[in-house]
Amino acid sequence: MYEQISHSLLNDILTQCKQPKGEDWQHFYTRLGANFYAIHSLFQHLYGQREDFKAQLGKLVTVLTQQYAQRAAHLRAKDLEREKNHDWFMQQKWVGMAMYCQGFAGNLANMREKLPYLQELGINLLHILPICDCPELQNDGGYAVRDFRQIDVRNGSMADLEQLIAAMQQSDMLLTLDVVVNHTSDEHAWAKQAKLGDQQYQDYYYMYPDRTIPDMFEAAMPEVFPENAPGSFTWNPDTGKWVMTVFNQYQWDLNYSNPAVLVEMVDIILFWANKGVDILRLDAVAFLWKKIGSSCQNEREAHLILQLLKDCCQVTAPGVIFIAEAIVAPIEIIKYFGEDAINAKECEIAYNATLMALLWDAVATKQTVLLTKGVEDLPEKLDRATWLNYVRCHDDIGLGFSDQAIIAAGFEPVSHRRFLVDYYTGHYPESNARGFAFGVNKKTGDARISGALASLAGLETALANQDQPAIDNAVLTIVLLHNLIMSFGGIPLLYYGDAVGTLNNDSYLQDENKMHDNRWVHRPTLDWEVLALKNEPGSVQQRLFSQIKQLIAIRKEISAFADLNNRELIALDNPHLFAFHRYVQTGMHPKVVVIANFDTSPQTAPLQAFRQKGLFKTPVLTELYSGQTLSTDTDSITIPPLTAYWLST
Ligand code: GLC
Repeated sequence: MYEQISHSLLNDILTQCKQPKGEDWQHFYTRLGANFYAIHSLFQHLYGQREDFKAQLGKLVTVLTQQYAQRAAHLRAKDLEREKNHDWFMQQKWVGMAMYCQGFAGNLANMREKLPYLQELGINLLHILPICDCPELQNDGGYAVRDFRQIDVRNGSMADLEQLIAAMQQSDMLLTLDVVVNHTSDEHAWAKQAKLGDQQYQDYYYMYPDRTIPDMFEAAMPEVFPENAPGSFTWNPDTGKWVMTVFNQYQWDLNYSNPAVLVEMVDIILFWANKGVDILRLDAVAFLWKKIGSSCQNEREAHLILQLLKDCCQVTAPGVIFIAEAIVAPIEIIKYFGEDAINAKECEIAYNATLMALLWDAVATKQTVLLTKGVEDLPEKLDRATWLNYVRCHDDIGLGFSDQAIIAAGFEPVSHRRFLVDYYTGHYPESNARGFAFGVNKKTGDARISGALASLAGLETALANQDQPAIDNAVLTIVLLHNLIMSFGGIPLLYYGDAVGTLNNDSYLQDENKMHDNRWVHRPTLDWEVLALKNEPGSVQQRLFSQIKQLIAIRKEISAFADLNNRELIALDNPHLFAFHRYVQTGMHPKVVVIANFDTSPQTAPLQAFRQKGLFKTPVLTELYSGQTLSTDTDSITIPPLTAYWLST
C-alpha cells in the first residue's frame, strides 16, 4: 500500500544512512518497500510515543540492511526460490525430529555422522534444541542464553555447526534452531550491565525497586514453574531491585516495550538466518508482552511484536520461516499464525499442542470423544500456515484442552484432568504408564505430565513384567500415535529416541541442577548400541523403527497428506474410533480415509457414514500401510486394536 508518511520517513532514513546500491540490492529494496508500511505502522503503534521513535526505526532499517549485506549468495538464491514456491514448507515431504545434540550424538560434529541414521528413517527436518552459550549449571536445558551468537562449548563450535548445515543442505534437509526471544540468562552481557547499575540495560528488563509493581503484576499472572520457581519476580541483590522472571529465577524477561530490545532481537534473528538456518523456533512467544492486570500471556502487543519480527525477516531473509512455540489454549494458539490474514503474518508454523494433548487423552480413556470434539473445535487455520504435529517433545504434556470441550465430551473437567494425571503417573489401577507429575500447583490443583513416550505408552512396565501382550499393545500405541501425526495435516515432529522406544531415564536425579526438573526424565542420552537393535529382527526397536519408517515413506508419497486445509472429520457412532479424510482439491489424486481405533479390542465402523460423505465408492479399498485390500461390498469395516488404517479411495 502507498502511504505518504511511511514513504517519506523511509526516504529520510535511506538518505541519512548510506545505502548500498547495485543489482544485488534490487530484491532488498523491493521487499523493504513492500514491507515498510507494515513495519512503520506496527513500530508507530508500539513505540510512537517515544522521543527516540525515529532514531530507533532508523536503527532497525540499518540492521535489516547490514544483515542483507552479510547474506550469502546461495541463501539469497534460496530466498528467491522459496518466494516463487511459497508453499514449500506445507508439502508432505517434510518429516521432522527434535533433539538435544548432546543427547542425540554427543555434539554438533558427531551430528553429521548421524545424518545417515536420520535419512534411513526418512527425517529431513531437524530441530536441534538450544545450542547457544549458556551458564554451565543452571540453564533450563539451554533456554537461559548467555550469548545469542556463540555456540556453547559443550555442543562444539560455530565451525561444527557450519559444516553440519552444509552437509544438511547437500541432502535437502532443513535445520530449525531456537531463538529464545522472551528472556536471557542472568549472566547475559545485558543482564551483567544491568547488575552494574547501567540504566540503558536495566531498561532491557523489568526491574523495580520495591514490591509495589511486582505485586500488581503477580496478582494476575499464573505461575509457569510453581514448584521450582514460584512467583514471577526475583530479588536481585546487586541492584536492590526485583526483576521479572516468569520462568526460572535465572531467566530474566526482556522488556519489549523498549524498542532497543526489539532491534537487538531482529539482529539476532537475522544473524541465525544468515548462518543458513531454514526455520527459527521462537521460544515462549505467548509471553512477549506484559501488562499489569493481565495474565501477561497472549497480549495483543505480543502478536504485534511477532508481526514486526516477521515483516523484518521478510525484508532481509524471506526464505526463513518461524515456528511459534505457544503452548496455550487452542483458541489462542491459532492466533500465532496471525489473525485476519490469508498468509501467516506472524509465524508460519505453530506447535499443535491441542492435538498432542488430545491424543494422550484418547490413549488413556481408549475413547475418542474428546479427541473428536477438540479437533472439531480447532479453528480453521490460515491458508499459508501449518501445524507442527507431535506426540512428545522435550517439555511436559500440558492438558491444555478447554473445559467446554471436556464437558461436551461428557466428562467433568477437574476430575477428568485428575484422572489423566493419575493415569500417566501410574496411580490409576489399570494404568501401565510410568510418567511423573510436573508443575504441580498446590494452589490451583493444576498439574502437567513428564515422561518418555514409550514409558507413558506402557512399554516400560510391560518390559519389566515380561508381559508380551502388554509389550505388543505398547508397540501398537506408539505406532498409532505416530500414524496420526503423520496423516493429520502438518509437519510431523518426532522426538529423538521415540522411533526405537527409548524409556524414561532417571540419571538426571544424580545431578543437583536437574534433579528438581523431571522433564529431564525424557531428555535421554541415546545409547547407539541399543539403537542398533533396529536391525535385530523381532526386537522392540526393530518393530518400532521399521513401522515408523514405513509410515514416513508412505506419507511422503501421498499428496493428500500435504497440509492445505484439506481434512474433514467423519463422525462415527463408535466412541473408540477417530476418523477423517484427506483430499486434494484438484486433479485425480486419491483421497485417504484415516480410521484410528484407540481401544484394545477390534472396533467396527459402519460404511454408511463414509458413503454419506461420497467416500468408498470404489469396490475395493487399499490399506496403504499393509497393502491389504478391503471390499466395500459390506456394511461395516473392522479396525484391529490400537491401529489406524490409511484407506486409499
Ligand atoms: C519453552 C521451552 C522450555 C523452557 C521455556 C522457558 O517453553 O520449550 O523448555 O523451559 O520455554 O525458556
